[in-house]
Amino acid sequence: MKPTAYRARHGIALSATFIVVAILVISMVFGILADRKFNEKSGQTPNNPTVAATAWDDPVLPELYKTCNGTHLETLKSAFEETWNVTSFARSRLLAYGTNDRIYQRWFGDGSLYTVLGTIEALAEVPKKDVLFRCDDVDGLCAANPSYYAGHHRLNATQETVICDYFYTAKKPVSEICSNGTLAEVAPSKYMGIDMVHRYFHVPTVNLDGYIGEHTEEVDEILSMASKNSSFAVRNVDSYLYYLADVYSSAIVPGGCLGDL
Ligand SMILES: *[C@@H]1O[C@H](CO)[C@@H](O)[C@H](O)[C@H]1NC(C)=O
Ligand SMILES: *[C@@H]1O[C@H](CO)[C@@H](O)[C@H](O)[C@H]1NC(C)=O
Ligand SMILES: *[C@@H]1O[C@H](CO)[C@@H](O)[C@H](O)[C@H]1NC(C)=O
Ligand SMILES: *[C@@H]1O[C@H](CO)[C@@H](O)[C@H](O)[C@H]1NC(C)=O
Ligand SMILES: *[C@@H]1O[C@H](CO)[C@@H](O)[C@H](O)[C@H]1NC(C)=O
Repeated sequence: MKPTAYRARHGIALSATFIVVAILVISMVFGILADRKFNEKSGQTPNNPTVAATAWDDPVLPELYKTCNGTHLETLKSAFEETWNVTSFARSRLLAYGTNDRIYQRWFGDGSLYTVLGTIEALAEVPKKDVLFRCDDVDGLCAANPSYYAGHHRLNATQETVICDYFYTAKKPVSEICSNGTLAEVAPSKYMGIDMVHRYFHVPTVNLDGYIGEHTEEVDEILSMASKNSSFAVRNVDSYLYYLADVYSSAIVPGGCLGDL
C-alpha cells in the first residue's frame, strides 16, 4: 500500500469520527436546550409521580370520651386512621421530593420544608392523651346548629372537641375523594380523615398555642399566600388541608382531581 493511499484512508476515518462526535455533541446541546425550554414552559417545578406511603411507626389516637360508643366510636376511629394514612402519604412525598414538587409549591410556595414535615409528623405521632374528643352535646351547640355543626372546639375546655351527630352524615370517608367532584367543588374538610386534621389544629397542644392558626380559609387566598406569604402558608390550617387532599387524591386517583382552582 502506498503511503498516500494509507494517509487518505486514515484521513477519511478520522474525519468520519470527527463528524460523528460533532453530531453527538450538537444533538446533546440541542437536547439540553429543548429540555430546559420544556421545563421553563412547565414552570420548572416537576410534576413528580406518586410515592408509596410508609406507615407511621407509632401513630396515636386522641382520647375518646366514654360518651362515644357503638358505631360512632367505630367511625371516629376509622376517621383518625384515615388521618394517619393521609399524613403518611404526605411524609413520603416530602421526603422524596422536598420542596422541588409542584404540589408542595402550590400550597406552601418556598415555605420551610422542616416546618411542614414536623407539623405533619406531629399530627400523626405527637402524644394525644390530653386531646379529648367527646360525643355528647355538652354545650348544646350541636342542637342549636342542626344540619350545620358537624362538631366544634370547646372554648371553655380548649383541649376538648365535640363531635355532633351531623358529622356521621355530613362527612365522607377519604377513600371517596374525587368520586363526587373535584377539590374545587368538594372542599377537603368534607372528608373525615382531613376534617380531623382541622379539628386537631384547634387544640392548643397540637397547634403549639397558635403557631399553626386559621389565617385564611378561602382557596384563592390560600393559593396567593403560598406565592406571596409562604412563611404563613406553612402555619395556616387550610393550606395543610388542601395540601393533604392534593397529595392523597393524586396518590389514589391518576392525575388527582384538583379541578378549577
Ligand atoms: C352511647 O352514647 C350516648 C351518648 O351519646 C349515651 O346516651 C348512650 O347511653 C350510650 N350507649 C351505650 C350503649 O353506652
Ligand atoms: C390507606 O390508603 C390506601 C390507599 O388508598 C388504602 O389502600 C388503605 O386501605 C388505606 N388505609 C386506611 C386505614 O384508610
Ligand atoms: C363558658 O363558661 C362561661 C363562664 O364559666 C359560661 O358562662 C358559658 O356559658 C360557658 N360557655 C359554654 C359554651 O359552655
Ligand atoms: C355529591 O354532590 C352532590 C352535588 O354537590 C350532592 O348533592 C350529593 O349529596 C353528593 N353526594 C355525596 C355522596 O357526597
Ligand atoms: C402574611 O400573613 C399574615 C397572616 O395572615 C399577615 O399577618 C401578614 O401581614 C402577611 N404578610 C404579608 C407580607 O402579606
